[in-house]
Amino acid sequence: MKFFVDTAEIDAIAELNALGMVDGVTTNPSLIKKSGRDIIEVTKEICDLVDGPVSAEVTATDAETMIAEGRKLVKIADNIAVKVPLTWDGLQACKTLTDEGHMVNVTLCFSANQALLAAKAGATFISPFIGRLDDINLDGMDLIADIRTIYDNYGFETEILAASIRNANHVLESARIGADVITAPPAVIKAMINHPLTDKGLDAFLADIKAANIKIL
Ligand code: G3P
Repeated sequence: MKFFVDTAEIDAIAELNALGMVDGVTTNPSLIKKSGRDIIEVTKEICDLVDGPVSAEVTATDAETMIAEGRKLVKIADNIAVKVPLTWDGLQACKTLTDEGHMVNVTLCFSANQALLAAKAGATFISPFIGRLDDINLDGMDLIADIRTIYDNYGFETEILAASIRNANHVLESARIGADVITAPPAVIKAMINHPLTDKGLDAFLADIKAANIKIL
């Protein structure tokens, strides 16, 4: 399973990248706003840091402008994936940009039918939003499972990029179902390591190291 980091914070990306945890990065207008940085400038910095796909989202809602924005974004670096919303205009932009050989991430996916349309439009990635479905008392994991089944039924190569991941269980369930990629905020990836028995066990070992004066170096 690939791990993308869902942030535009350079330091947080660099920290996880040094541990081999970063296969790519996703950004969106809200994350760019939070960073306080210029979209082109910060995206270039992220692309310089990370080898894998870096999603940068268009700002337009009409296909023609989305395509023009996408063509500008892909000039930033070879690893840019243009992110477009799941609308008919977004799918038109997806088809044009993927036909030109660019990676496209179709975002704001909330139904399996939408995911089917995105795959037919040649999307490189489909981004179903788990947490936002959970927020309205639906089960985001059911959507990931449905898309996995449908894509496997027909051999679609579009990668399932589980997004709007809010906690470590979302990562675990996505992995169980077979999502190709998760994108999560750095704090969620970091929280995956937590286990009270690890802490308790280490405390006991440290006490014995001290008691027995065990030394290696
Ligand atoms: O990748 C999409 C993601 O950033 C949305 O997450 O938590 O705003 O629903 P959230």
